[in-house]
Amino acid sequence: MVCPGVMCLVLDAPDMARAAEPGQFAMLKNWEGPDPFLMRPISINSFDREAGTLTFLYKLVGRGTKLLAKAQPGDKVEVIAPEGRGFPVGKDFKRVAVIGRGIGIAPLRGLVEQYRAQGTEVYAYLSAKNDDFLFHKDLFTELGAVVRSTTDPNVNITDAFAKDLETLAFDAAFSCGSKRLGKDMKRLHRQYGFAAYISLEEHMACGIGACKGCVCKHYDEDGTETYKRVCKDGPVFDVERVVK
Ligand code: FES
Repeated sequence: MVCPGVMCLVLDAPDMARAAEPGQFAMLKNWEGPDPFLMRPISINSFDREAGTLTFLYKLVGRGTKLLAKAQPGDKVEVIAPEGRGFPVGKDFKRVAVIGRGIGIAPLRGLVEQYRAQGTEVYAYLSAKNDDFLFHKDLFTELGAVVRSTTDPNVNITDAFAKDLETLAFDAAFSCGSKRLGKDMKRLHRQYGFAAYISLEEHMACGIGACKGCVCKHYDEDGTETYKRVCKDGPVFDVERVVK
């Protein structure tokens, strides 16, 4: 357990770990039979290509995740991974921001690790209901990121990002969380011009692009409204394309 209600699962899956990119997800199942019927979509927290492992942090929210939490070392887990389009990693980016709230902090870990490994400055803006849920605050600091965090429900963490933007130039910002976060990101992206990406959360059934049960509105560059599948076309999108 990472904090109350949040579990960690590490899978030995060398091929998947080699193929994984930050922000992608997996479909997981460790129970026999058709009940629950659907595999659970869970974002990849981190991947270690050398060790051949994939790490997941997930919230206990229903039967599937409760069954998954019963997995013991050595158990077999059915996995489809890596799925979807993740966060882009700009090789020449000098400074980036990651912004996450609660369990939305989890998919940012692989991204912070990738950017720090290539020497990019990372600023992490984290918010949660209490200190327990600010998991990764210490890890991001150890990785050399500048971490700003809050557990005050009346404080909007994007205000801290807005303050830093007054004096610092960012190449890109990546967020994972609420629509409000997406709107704030889009406003700041339009004001300051950095590239901005958001990872959307949507209910998923198949997780592989077949059922169209996860569509979101997409605004094309010419303003045309279309629909995209979060599992296949996302979950990461340019904020301009999915945030009104
Ligand atoms: Fe089936 Fe996305 S979950 S198409």
